[in-house]
Amino acid sequence: MKVLKFLVCFAALWASTLARNRSPLLDEDKGLTRNKAAECIFGKEIRELGSQWIPDLGVPIGVLYCMKCECVPFHRKRRIVARVQCRNIKNECPEPTCDDPVLLPERCCKTCPGDNKNEPDVIQDIVPQNVIEEEERRINHFGALLTGRSSLDLRNDSDSKDLNKNNVVATGRFTFHKRNLHYSFYISEKAARPRSLHFLDNQGNILEEFTLSHAGGLVNSLYQNATRKVCGIWRRLPRDYRKLLRNEKMYVVLIWGTKESEFTLSGRLSKYVSLASEQFSSLLEPAPGTDSAKMAGSGGMAIVSTLSSPSPSIHVAVIFNGLFTSHENFDVPINIILGLDEKKQILLEENIKVRKPASDLNYIELSSPISLADLRSLSRGRVVLTVSSLSEPNNLRLSGNVITKITCEIFQTTLIGDKDLAGVTTGLAWMYLNNQGALIYNIQIDNALNEPHIKSITVTLSDIAGKKKAEVLTPRFDSGWANGTEDRMVHKVLEPLYNNRLDMRVGVGNGTLHGHLNAKLVADARDAPAPLLLKRENYTLSTSVLGLAWVSVDNDCHIHYDVSLSGLGHERKMEVYLEMYPIIAPGAPVLLKHLEDFEGNSVEGSPLEALTKEELDMLDSGVTFMKIKDFNSKIVLLSATITKLTLPITCRPLYNNNVPLIYDVPGGRPTEDCFFEGKFYKKDSTWVSKNPCQMCFCQDGQTTCDRMTCPDLKCPRNNVTIPGECCPVCSDPEIVKSNKKCLFNGMIYSSGSKFHPFLIPLGFDDCTVCTCDPVDLEIKCRRIETNSAKCGKGSATETPETLRDDDDIPMGGWPMIRKEDVSNSAMILKEGGCKNNNNPDKPYKNGTSYHPHIASLGEYKCVTCKCQNGTQKCSRERCEWKNCKMIFDFRKGRSKANKRSQFLYSDYCCSLKECRKIRHKKKIEERSSHKQ
Ligand SMILES: *[C@@H]1O[C@H](CO)[C@@H](O)[C@H](O)[C@H]1NC(C)=O
Ligand SMILES: *[C@@H]1O[C@H](CO)[C@@H](O)[C@H](O)[C@H]1NC(C)=O
Ligand SMILES: *[C@@H]1O[C@H](CO)[C@@H](O)[C@H](O)[C@H]1NC(C)=O
Ligand SMILES: *[C@@H]1O[C@H](CO)[C@@H](O)[C@H](O)[C@H]1NC(C)=O
Ligand SMILES: *[C@@H]1O[C@H](CO)[C@@H](O)[C@H](O)[C@H]1NC(C)=O
Ligand SMILES: *[C@@H]1O[C@H](CO)[C@@H](O)[C@H](O)[C@H]1NC(C)=O
Repeated sequence: MKVLKFLVCFAALWASTLARNRSPLLDEDKGLTRNKAAECIFGKEIRELGSQWIPDLGVPIGVLYCMKCECVPFHRKRRIVARVQCRNIKNECPEPTCDDPVLLPERCCKTCPGDNKNEPDVIQDIVPQNVIEEEERRINHFGALLTGRSSLDLRNDSDSKDLNKNNVVATGRFTFHKRNLHYSFYISEKAARPRSLHFLDNQGNILEEFTLSHAGGLVNSLYQNATRKVCGIWRRLPRDYRKLLRNEKMYVVLIWGTKESEFTLSGRLSKYVSLASEQFSSLLEPAPGTDSAKMAGSGGMAIVSTLSSPSPSIHVAVIFNGLFTSHENFDVPINIILGLDEKKQILLEENIKVRKPASDLNYIELSSPISLADLRSLSRGRVVLTVSSLSEPNNLRLSGNVITKITCEIFQTTLIGDKDLAGVTTGLAWMYLNNQGALIYNIQIDNALNEPHIKSITVTLSDIAGKKKAEVLTPRFDSGWANGTEDRMVHKVLEPLYNNRLDMRVGVGNGTLHGHLNAKLVADARDAPAPLLLKRENYTLSTSVLGLAWVSVDNDCHIHYDVSLSGLGHERKMEVYLEMYPIIAPGAPVLLKHLEDFEGNSVEGSPLEALTKEELDMLDSGVTFMKIKDFNSKIVLLSATITKLTLPITCRPLYNNNVPLIYDVPGGRPTEDCFFEGKFYKKDSTWVSKNPCQMCFCQDGQTTCDRMTCPDLKCPRNNVTIPGECCPVCSDPEIVKSNKKCLFNGMIYSSGSKFHPFLIPLGFDDCTVCTCDPVDLEIKCRRIETNSAKCGKGSATETPETLRDDDDIPMGGWPMIRKEDVSNSAMILKEGGCKNNNNPDKPYKNGTSYHPHIASLGEYKCVTCKCQNGTQKCSRERCEWKNCKMIFDFRKGRSKANKRSQFLYSDYCCSLKECRKIRHKKKIEERSSHKQ
């Protein structure tokens, strides 16, 4: 009950924090549900299952020392998920041993002077987050054989067996490093890609689940499609799960079909020493011609490693089940054959005894010298592994091709030029082996199009330091790219490739680019179609500064990135961020997205929050750069344009009429800037468009332009139009030669020219004519008094007013004219519009509200009219105290605002008499409230 009550208070506390300060706590349910992982999200931090902490709510609440939060597991059917539970621990405080205990800062319980100050409060079991145990720092390998005969007692297990008529089997490889578990699966060619993957504990509870494919078994990943592998990563395993893994009590299940007719394969994650040096693998399936009933649900896998020097040798570990008859239960011999596919030629054969046959997993291994020719056959994927029962070899037999290792891996490098190419070009390369054992490679040479002499390249792969040439690739070179497939992979390449000893040299013209190929596991960012070349942004940096980055967006709209840098040393602190523009244009608003601060030469990650709609919009339709900045100097070091980023359909922003919205920094509000003729203009600015007779202004993200007509000049001789100006000037040679100009409202006028002023938001005011005075270069404007609607042609004048560029332009009194509306005035009236007595060419539209126009005052703001079906209904604004106050202030000479222009009572919708009444009433009210 107490806990419950507290939680209610806590929730209220959260809410109040949110209102004031946008506490991170309530963001929890918006976009942070990535993969529904069994972990807790508290604020912007991920807490692993089982962790405990004292909540820090940030400013203004701070740390709540009397509260303990915990990320606790709970079952949702068979799935274990996590939730945060917090409770007050104040009443768990030990009884103080003295009469006047004190509460020390950062403590919950009061203590006595003699108490041990270091002794913590009630919470003793808080484990620091992000402490990676020594064992987890090392890379640990696990393997799994997935068959219908795993020891895991699954629900519907018998049904599953029935559905697995084709005896599908699968094998998995798992690499655990820094709390993350990378997984790779290879599945019988008979089966499509599974629908999902579950990690289970030994009781069959689902610890984590992953969706592997959508309808039809399709996968977007180029790599996974080309290799037929299933690749991914389980990030941040909780401590308890890491323990399960270490103790080999974790299982995986691959699931096919629909909820109604599900078919699964399962297996246990086990440690096998040979996985650390694995180069080849094999998936063993019931061999053709065997007894399918006896072999139901059985299968095997092999882990193969080789050594070419000092003398060639091979090591094979086989994990299998299903080769034993019911009465074979002790020291049962099993026959292993490595043979050549087409020729039935045997490379290696041995009988090995299994001490105690098990129904789920049995392990046998063999080591043997092997010829170099046989190693070559192995590299070319022509070797078949067969494992069979000695008592019933025809019925009980498993076989499979030996293929390159199952782990989802790519090999990548940046390419740096030697002295001839330094500063001229750089590049990058990545490669992988497909399921046929062919090497698929992509090499990008930067700047090749600007260096026309680079017409072809040569590629050499060699063992470290170029001592041993392993392979010469012969790629076709096109537009800076050399993409190819090398079918005849040789062992000389595979061995150094897997042992992290392979260099690539690319001959370009006179020079060479070189790099060292590094193995990387494929998941998230590295599952993108291609990496980006991060190029030096600052040319004072060494030419060896270069980077390679992978970027992807997953189905939950989270961005993933993986950056490897060279030439910057290991100690520099840097920041990686995205710079997004709606389009590249002068003045374009930029949106910055900070990804991470890091040290060293690589960084990989994914922000906790999904990308916002605005960010996705920029990624999809704008221009985005990935940049690396020096943390201290803030100098941009490297930059790449993000291209070919495939945004999942579910993350594509919705456009209105296909016009992408333009967003501002930093909160992602729609920008109030305007984009016009290839440039961005700030809110409320005016500018001359490319046509000097057109002026535009920007309001609420909308550009409005108006065309100017030129006032009559009445020149004694001719008139001339000066380039860049709209209206002609009289061709008085003196004036034209003087080249004197007036500047008004951002527009340039030659001395003596006449024009209509441009006013926001009305456009050109044809009822006023301004002149750039040839003598003092001031703009002098005069109103054209007119009773008719058409200004401009009249002759009567008012007192001239002088305006300068920095003057406020008095707006009241100038009639509104919008030329574009004139032509369709008849149409407006026909559609229920109302007559405009002031300007018959501009009737009011049906349904619009406006202030009427009163001859001497202009727009009369104290009356609002509405046009409805041809009749107008008007109402007067009420006179209010705030308006009266301005009137009184003005009368007392206090108001500065109205000093320049004429003060009009009518602008304030009050008469002096009304205001005096209001003031009187106010005073009475104040007096009575004082008395109370
Ligand atoms: C997937 O691979 C198959 C054959 O390997 C190929 O025909 C197909 O085009 C590939 N699909 C994609 C989306 O890459
Ligand atoms: C080579 O591959 C890259 C990455 O997939 C691609 O962008 C490029 O267009 C390809 N070039 C050629 C010539 O095939
Ligand atoms: C090769 O190098 C020489 C001298 O450095 C240079 O003059 C020549 O233009 C280079 N040729 C090419 C194709 O780059
Ligand atoms: C390039 O780096 C130097 C220092 O290495 C710095 O002084 C300069 O401002 C940088 N240039 C730019 C454009 O950031
Ligand atoms: C300028 O002169 C031309 C004839 O040379 C005349 O047609 C035109 O109306 C004049 N423009 C103005 C604005 O006076
Ligand atoms: C005027 O607008 C109203 C709705 O705003 C509409 O119902 C009415 O039909 C319009 N009148 C004419 C004459 O179009």
